[in-house]
Amino acid sequence: MVFYFSGTGNSRRAAKQIAELLGDELVPINACLKKGKKEAFRSERPLVIVAPTYSWQMPKVVERWIRETTFEANQSIYFVLTCGGSVGDAAAYAKKLCVEKGLRFMGLALVAMPNNYVALSNTPDAAECASILEKAAERTVELTALIQRGEPFPDAAVSLMDRLYSGPVNGLFYALFVHDKGFAASEACTSCGKCAQRCPLNNISITDGKPVWHGNCTHCMACIGGCPVEAIEYKSASKGNRRYYIMED
Ligand SMILES: Cc1cc2nc3c(=O)[nH]c(=O)nc-3n(C[C@H](O)[C@H](O)[C@H](O)COP(=O)(O)O)c2cc1C
Ligand code: SF4
Ligand code: SF4
Repeated sequence: MVFYFSGTGNSRRAAKQIAELLGDELVPINACLKKGKKEAFRSERPLVIVAPTYSWQMPKVVERWIRETTFEANQSIYFVLTCGGSVGDAAAYAKKLCVEKGLRFMGLALVAMPNNYVALSNTPDAAECASILEKAAERTVELTALIQRGEPFPDAAVSLMDRLYSGPVNGLFYALFVHDKGFAASEACTSCGKCAQRCPLNNISITDGKPVWHGNCTHCMACIGGCPVEAIEYKSASKGNRRYYIMED
């Protein structure tokens, strides 16, 4: 069973490719989070979690969701983190979670995809995105072959900096940056409601025709990246940054 969490579509794309190659079921964690209920899944085949990298770790919302979800039958679990280039020491944290849950850790592998962090940085241009996505698809085929054969993903080398990024830097990053106070919609907003529909945490409502953020944000970038008229900004940090959104609705 292939589970994915995705803000702007990279992880969904990789997960869909893996599920198609394996002929396995694709389950959106986004929809599970939106429902807000604890769930149980039964899979005779290995579990595969595909998610973005947030500050050199699996997103906290995904970690929490795994912790609260029941997995029956097959207990082997692979982690595929899409990222802009580095997952640091994310594997150590995924492994620890598996020990807690009694799951069999089969490794964590990265797939480099376009950086989607439009709130705080620019994203690659269309040509660069196309080239990155092509390489990502090749890498995904290689990883799927390992899953198909029941082999673990190979361990990646981890430096002291990787440990620092995934450890203390991750903690600081969440405390300092991961909140929604900076989001606002401009007059360009057409009240289409897409940002509210897409937010995986149901953190946005449309009030008097404009989005309002309610303080429970994981910085997935679905709202700002996916707004069809680019009406959303994150303070002044997102001004002029290219929007990135390849999620299929
Ligand atoms: C809050 C946030 C933190 C991020 N941190 C990292 C990171 O530590 N390392 C990295 O390579 N990319 C990082 N990125 C880039 C995303 O992991 C990457 O673009 C991912 O493929 C997005 O997946 P999605 O489209 O499925 O949401 C970050 C993006 C966001 C929004
Ligand atoms: S997606 Fe954009 S245009 Fe639509 S309601 Fe949200 S801010 Fe407004
Ligand atoms: S408010 Fe926007 S960035 Fe925050 S979780 Fe919802 S869609 Fe993602």
